[in-house]
Amino acid sequence: MGKKKYLIMVTLIGALGGLLFGYDTAVISGAIGFLETKFQLSPTMKGWAVSSAIWGCILGVALAGYVADKIGRKKTLLITAFLFAISAVGSALAEDLTFFVTARIIGGIGVGAASMLSPLYISEIAPAHKRGMLVSLYQLAIVLGINIVFFFNYKVAQYSTEAWNVETGWRYMVGSEVIPALLFFIALFFVPESPRWLSKVGRDVEALDILSRINSDEVAQQVHKDIKNALGQEKGTLKELFEPGLRIAMVIGVFLALFSQITGINAIMYYAPEILKKAGFGVDSALMQTVIIGIVNTIFTFVAIKYIDKLGRRTLLLWGVSGMILCLFGIGLLYQFDMTSGPWLLVLILGFVGCFATSLGPIPWVLISEIFPTKTRGIAMSLSIVVLWVGVILISQFTPVLLEMGETMTFWIFMVNAIILLIFTYKLIPETKGKTLEEIEQSWKIQ
Ligand code: GLC
Repeated sequence: MGKKKYLIMVTLIGALGGLLFGYDTAVISGAIGFLETKFQLSPTMKGWAVSSAIWGCILGVALAGYVADKIGRKKTLLITAFLFAISAVGSALAEDLTFFVTARIIGGIGVGAASMLSPLYISEIAPAHKRGMLVSLYQLAIVLGINIVFFFNYKVAQYSTEAWNVETGWRYMVGSEVIPALLFFIALFFVPESPRWLSKVGRDVEALDILSRINSDEVAQQVHKDIKNALGQEKGTLKELFEPGLRIAMVIGVFLALFSQITGINAIMYYAPEILKKAGFGVDSALMQTVIIGIVNTIFTFVAIKYIDKLGRRTLLLWGVSGMILCLFGIGLLYQFDMTSGPWLLVLILGFVGCFATSLGPIPWVLISEIFPTKTRGIAMSLSIVVLWVGVILISQFTPVLLEMGETMTFWIFMVNAIILLIFTYKLIPETKGKTLEEIEQSWKIQ
């Protein structure tokens, strides 16, 4: 197999972690109504059934960095695939809520772990000039996972009667995840360990061999030398991340993770049907529009993939977030002037999602996976991405409450957050396109 094809294959397998991430977080939206009837859930129990997986995610992210630094990226990814598979089967067979919630927490641990390991793995294996594009494939996989499961849930729900769905339909929804999980598990046997991790633990011959499978011999030698040099300078302690220089990288990681959530994307991803129904659209039309939102999210992720290594992370982020601000402002205005029943609400939501997909969707994953030194990358990514998941929880819990208090206010809160993010990006985020991970690391020390 040619070097290019090999690299694409390895990246696509690594990105499958994203597909499972999207699938697992979105599957519950279709199943929850039926679970509610089946297990006669109170509102609190219902909330627990939905959020249990996300609590598992936080645990998974917190553990994964440490484990991946100890036993390697590939072995830890295999564990996540295994957890996904167990969780899918377990939740499909559940006969009571406790069993269901336990299975969902186990799957959540897998999702959380994969949410940091997949981009980390891709970033460590990718050649510098393609890294943005390749890590963005991970975001594409998340979006595809969300879309596939929405479609699958919709089909299952339509397949038979309400009673059948309450008894059986939801089991197909949550159980179907076993297919991508097993696919991921098997495919992982065909990918190599990360060359940077191998160098870190002193397995240099293997590291060089893997680098040569992806790069020309000359480049592989050079990259390997740079990795060794950088590793020699790194302390690999948590404290190092808070020293001047790298401290900025840590602030950027945490800030981007949080603001990728609190600017509201998942308010749309999780609540679009509700928002649209309330704005006066019929159930079918609201569902249809949700499908259109998914398609736009997918198409514009391709725009990011195409341009992220050409225009750079910073430029895309500045333009994309500016676009999001304008759309959020417009949506707030529509609610303010009671104009939500016309076509403009959907147009502006699509604009918002399109701008997000070209910028704030993939770029936090790309930046968080490239700005930290190799020895501490696992732990630093864990820290940042735990914050991302706290953001997911905040938005999923509070969006309904906020919308109830006032739609204009809700969208304008997201807008203010996006403005803060824009200023932050302008002032603090450096351009990293085309640089090797070791060059990026060096640049913090010069600052
Ligand atoms: C990003 C976000 C995730 C969101 C997705 C939507 O990956 O981190 O929370 O659901 O984009 O496209």
